[in-house]
Amino acid sequence: MKDHSFLERKYIVKAYVNRGLILVAGDGVRLRDAAGTPYLDLMSNYGVSIFGYGHAELTVRLETQIRTLLTLHGSFANDRRAEAAQRLVGRCGGGLAQVFFSSSGTEANEAALKFAVLATGRKRFIACRNGYHGKTLGALSATDGPKFRSAFEPLLWDFAFIPFNDLEALEAALQVETAAFLVEPIQGEGGIILPDPGYLAKAAEFCRSRGSLLILDEVQTGLGRTGHFLAAHSENVTYDIVTLGKGLGGGIPAAATLVTQAIADKIPRSSHTSTFGGNPLAAAGILATLDLVDDSMLSHVREMGAYFLERLRSIRSELLVCVRGRGLMIGLEVAAMRDEILKGLQKEWVLAIPAADNVVRFLPPFVIEKRDLNEAAEKIEKVVSSLSRN
Ligand SMILES: Cc1ncc(COP(=O)(O)O)c(C=O)c1O
Repeated sequence: MKDHSFLERKYIVKAYVNRGLILVAGDGVRLRDAAGTPYLDLMSNYGVSIFGYGHAELTVRLETQIRTLLTLHGSFANDRRAEAAQRLVGRCGGGLAQVFFSSSGTEANEAALKFAVLATGRKRFIACRNGYHGKTLGALSATDGPKFRSAFEPLLWDFAFIPFNDLEALEAALQVETAAFLVEPIQGEGGIILPDPGYLAKAAEFCRSRGSLLILDEVQTGLGRTGHFLAAHSENVTYDIVTLGKGLGGGIPAAATLVTQAIADKIPRSSHTSTFGGNPLAAAGILATLDLVDDSMLSHVREMGAYFLERLRSIRSELLVCVRGRGLMIGLEVAAMRDEILKGLQKEWVLAIPAADNVVRFLPPFVIEKRDLNEAAEKIEKVVSSLSRN
């Protein structure tokens, strides 16, 4: 039998942390190793697998599209792509009128930054401390943190970094040359940090008063993750540009940059394109996602999220500092031993992911049920209490 762990180590650049696990299949909310051992998935592949694995309707729709037409360059129109664009614009609302399709979150943010420059004629940006927007050079310029940036500096254009959730800092940083403020509605990689209610609405107001754009990076928070289709839908926020990725294509790589008509009108032909952007397979995935993330799924996400949050808050341990989140985007801040907790959970066949330096992050599939969350909470309690005894 082939040693796939060896092959990965030998032939794949070591750019990722190695979790020491080979996973080859999935069904429902479980991923399976080669021996068929199930692992309870509380991370959805960093937020992608929102419908879990082997979802029947999604699978049929993707299979049908594979047989019909896999790919088509954006210079030719396509039925699936056109419908996906119309439906996505309608679902995001808030004055957004057109969409640019790409294949990953970082690309969606690259497009957002370029469109902001085209629309405003300005090249200064504001982003947040501990914010994460991707690792291609434009998006990386907006991403904070020396571990991501320092080898590549100087980066692009002029980015001012301000503390998240700090309106005074935003007001002070906004200048007449500021093209846009790029912000996550809830910081994900930064540690599941929620802003005060009203923060985004006020930020939008400040941006508008200076002729700057508000770009909401909903790559992690979007598509129902927080129990609303966009996290911004939980408040009365207006936005100029919204970026989406992760679960947008139901697991097929897909991302989107949505813009207002005024911005769309300033984007010249050929100024930004992508060979794979809006391919019919991805568009079919987007259409399936838009159908599946309906009101009942959003309310399930809210219900399961509230349940898991309470369940986690009931765990008593000196290792746990606090639990926070919205919908199925939840972070467990710990005083120490974050990586040991993640390893301990993996040994108990539960998969979670890190955020910041001290947070265990949970982004479970939306189809998770109370019995799975109970199982998860029991394992978390067991791992945390065995570590605090040592
Ligand atoms: C808020 C946010 N923006 C952008 C990205 C980058 O997305 P991708 O890894 O698909 O390029 C991520 C990825 O985690 C993210 O959480």
